[in-house]
Amino acid sequence: MFEKYPKEQRYTLSILQDLQKEYNYIPKEKLIELSEHLGIPLSKLYSMATFYKALSLTPKGKNIIKVCDGTACHIRSSRSLLDEIQNTLGIKPGETTKDGKFSLETVNCLGSCAIAPVMVINDKYYGKLTSSMVREILKEYGGADDE
Ligand code: FES
Repeated sequence: MFEKYPKEQRYTLSILQDLQKEYNYIPKEKLIELSEHLGIPLSKLYSMATFYKALSLTPKGKNIIKVCDGTACHIRSSRSLLDEIQNTLGIKPGETTKDGKFSLETVNCLGSCAIAPVMVINDKYYGKLTSSMVREILKEYGGADDE
């Protein structure tokens, strides 16, 4: 898929972003192919892929949940939101559910401190959250059992 790019190192990041978009992570085989295509050492590609937060070397879930744990959110109990998600989905920050539906991450500020505590699922923002709201929201994404 990256054959459309000239064999120039300045396209490395764009190609990595394309791979991330296509596979939802960067498969090792693709990294090897890219290393051969651009003539860049594999180790350099690995360090780029681990440096940029938007890139991942392990498969990510279909839905990416980002819980803000910045100061404004922290003092408004972002930890209890995290606990709720961890208990409901059985994953910790940095992990993905076995069914590939969800990945959980924490971030330092989502730029929406006025509506703290905040989380984002994919590109959708949810503010002024409580644990029970989180549970309802997860249900909408098929991540919590109806009781
Ligand atoms: S600290 Fe959470 S949105 Fe800013």
